[in-house]
Amino acid sequence: VEVARTRLGGAKLIVVANREPYIHRRANGGVELMRPAGGLTTALDPVMQACGGVWVGHGSGDADRETADARGRLAVPPDDPTYTLRRVWLTPEQEEGYYYGFANSTLWPLCHQVYRRPTFDPAHWAVYREVNELFAAAVLEEARGGPAVIFVQDYHFALLPGLLKAARPDLVVAQFWHVPWPNPETFRVCPWAGELLDGMLGNDLLGFHIQYHCNNFLETVDRTVESRICRERFSVGRGDRQTRVLPFPISVDPDLAAEYTVGWQDRVGELRAAHGLGDRPLVVGVDRVDYTKGIPERVRAVGRLLERHPEWVGKFHLVQLGAPSRTNLPAYRDLNAEVQTLADAVNRTHGTADWQPVVFVNRHCGPEDIYALYRDAAGCVVSSLHDGMNLVAKEFVTARDDGQGTLVLSQFTGAARELTDAVLVNPFDVDGLAAGLHAALAMPADEQRRRMRRMRAQVSDNNIYRWAGMLLSEASKLVPDADPPEV
Ligand code: G6P
Repeated sequence: VEVARTRLGGAKLIVVANREPYIHRRANGGVELMRPAGGLTTALDPVMQACGGVWVGHGSGDADRETADARGRLAVPPDDPTYTLRRVWLTPEQEEGYYYGFANSTLWPLCHQVYRRPTFDPAHWAVYREVNELFAAAVLEEARGGPAVIFVQDYHFALLPGLLKAARPDLVVAQFWHVPWPNPETFRVCPWAGELLDGMLGNDLLGFHIQYHCNNFLETVDRTVESRICRERFSVGRGDRQTRVLPFPISVDPDLAAEYTVGWQDRVGELRAAHGLGDRPLVVGVDRVDYTKGIPERVRAVGRLLERHPEWVGKFHLVQLGAPSRTNLPAYRDLNAEVQTLADAVNRTHGTADWQPVVFVNRHCGPEDIYALYRDAAGCVVSSLHDGMNLVAKEFVTARDDGQGTLVLSQFTGAARELTDAVLVNPFDVDGLAAGLHAALAMPADEQRRRMRRMRAQVSDNNIYRWAGMLLSEASKLVPDADPPEV
């Protein structure tokens, strides 16, 4: 990151992400600071703390206005500020059409191939455009008066790069797409495919997690818009402009684990007592309750495991932390209830008077609770049906300074390309997922250590700072007057 910062050549770094890293909420008669669930903010906040600059995001907390200045700005982290958060205010209609509508009912299912039909609503599309313009205005204000590198995050802002370039051709614009990019047949059903791609081709640099998503994107462009694709340089040319399309697998800050696991034994003791877990081995799942995460599949697999291997009856718990997410949408709201119903059914069928196999904790938990469970667990299960990367898998690995613990990981995550020492599973195959849970619970300690050592080395080398460093130095090669890059 240090290298990238120097190479930014004095240009200001402005990150744009819908989700803000610090949310202020009214609670218990006062104001509470909350860290949102989800990989994007967890991954990017340490980078911003290291680089400084501005994070432009949606001011989503009900006490956000009173904790920011008149322009929505405040210094963060609040207790030890290193960068600026600029909150953009959305009306309830804008949040509905842009966030719940086009971003999460159209682009989210369109990019995740989990067989859920996306909504295509012209009213959502109009608001999505309007909100991209609103963010463009905020970014242009922050970038006034000098060179800047704008680092745009995710599918909420497909149109933003094009808008920024049209207004300020001198800005360096890079975007990272945190979700998968589907194959061209899937993407081109979107009535606004051409406009979305036009917007994204406003970027100088466009990053995806893995090469496969880059290839899918280039194929999609090739079949949808007039352009010159250079497959050797992985770039798209339009007029005199170029967009480079490269893979940058995102990661986590491995050092956060030491911070979050201070006193983990006490926390685990409390959690175990609160949920009647005794001292049995735990398998943990940590997710936003989202239909891409394969949570019902994993609860069913626990039932199947107990049928196939009754020797596990009474011997472990699946502790599933499920932070409610996007609950304005019926598909998300219903999923909380579905998981609870399934958990109850498995517990009724297989549980005993003093043992419940599945414990579903359907609320937002702080990082100290999450890391205490990671550190304590016999295993962690990530069974996403489709996932760009999945940072829970990487966080779990960083928490295991004891070198123990097994990771059961869906082969349909970006993380499965790097964490090949996990027990890789197909979550659509209940028997296979149950077999994976069995393998994880039964794995001999020396094999656990062998696998965990390699996974820890992987995440330690390819950490979030390396990700940001690679991406920002690639972007900074495009900054006019920046130092020439070292080779
Ligand atoms: C995924 C998306 C992020 C998003 C996160 C949490 O990781 O790629 O852009 O921030 O989910 O979802 P939310 O809708 O709560 O921001």
